[in-house]
Amino acid sequence: MKVLCKVENELRDEDNKGLVIMDLNIILLGPPGCGKGTQAKMLTEQYKIPQVSTGDILREALKKETAMGLKAKSYMDSGKLVPDEVVIGIIQDRLKQSDCQKGFILDGFPRTVVQAEALDKTLKDMGKKIEHSISIDVDDEELLGRLTGRRTCRSCGAMYHVLFNPSKKEGVCDACSGELYQRDDDKEETISNRLNIYKQQTAPLIDYYKKKDILRLVTGTGKIENIFKRIKDVLK
Ligand code: AP5
Ligand code: MG
Repeated sequence: MKVLCKVENELRDEDNKGLVIMDLNIILLGPPGCGKGTQAKMLTEQYKIPQVSTGDILREALKKETAMGLKAKSYMDSGKLVPDEVVIGIIQDRLKQSDCQKGFILDGFPRTVVQAEALDKTLKDMGKKIEHSISIDVDDEELLGRLTGRRTCRSCGAMYHVLFNPSKKEGVCDACSGELYQRDDDKEETISNRLNIYKQQTAPLIDYYKKKDILRLVTGTGKIENIFKRIKDVLK
């Protein structure tokens, strides 16, 4: 009889021949600023599976002024959710790409029950499923402080915070020397809209995944590395 042990993102048999039995398909759930992007980047490094962020894909489309990007702009600028059919289409295309076949980290999707149901159907058609939906919990006051101080690299997307995680040189990315910028939707008024929308439209997903028995709750306060360790413990 085989005893299974978990190595990184793969389940292997006991003599460690590298028999891959299970993919690692994860959702990072949580309010704006809880650290989904920060943790997704670290998980990508650790498990060698891609981060799939609908926010990043939409911002990229906006930068390139594609029809989809221009359509999304007014929603994003005011902190509202982009219509379900737009983001569901993005995810259906993205998950079919070859780099997602051994696993993926969904960051910022799903955000409504309609999106979650569409994801379930898409994955079922592909013979896949979500193993863990990790909800990162942070209170509103801390979220506001994190979002107003966030800076992002225009070139490589690395994330910083002016107080909690500053770059070595102000305005310059440590990793690639790219320019750091503040996101348009990180203004105080827009942040409060985003937090309200999270509570109304996205928080119901906590119950959705609880009922499926794949909800994992992680405290999102404290040092970034400690939160990363908590998430890895959940995945063990
Ligand atoms: P999106 O880009 O997904 O933004 P969000 O969910 O609002 O989340 P954020 O990216 O703001 O925060 P985060 O949780 O990634 O935190 P981060 O790691 O950056 O969406 C933007 C918009 O796109 C939406 O409003 C909507 O319009 C549209 N959209 C996207 N997806 C959609 C969908 N599925 N459906 C419909 N519309 C969609 O961390 C934040 C800051 O805190 C950083 O500065 C970081 O350095 C710092 N930080 C992180 N961890 C810690 C820590 N432990 N201690 C101190 N500081 C920390
Ligand atoms: Mg993010």
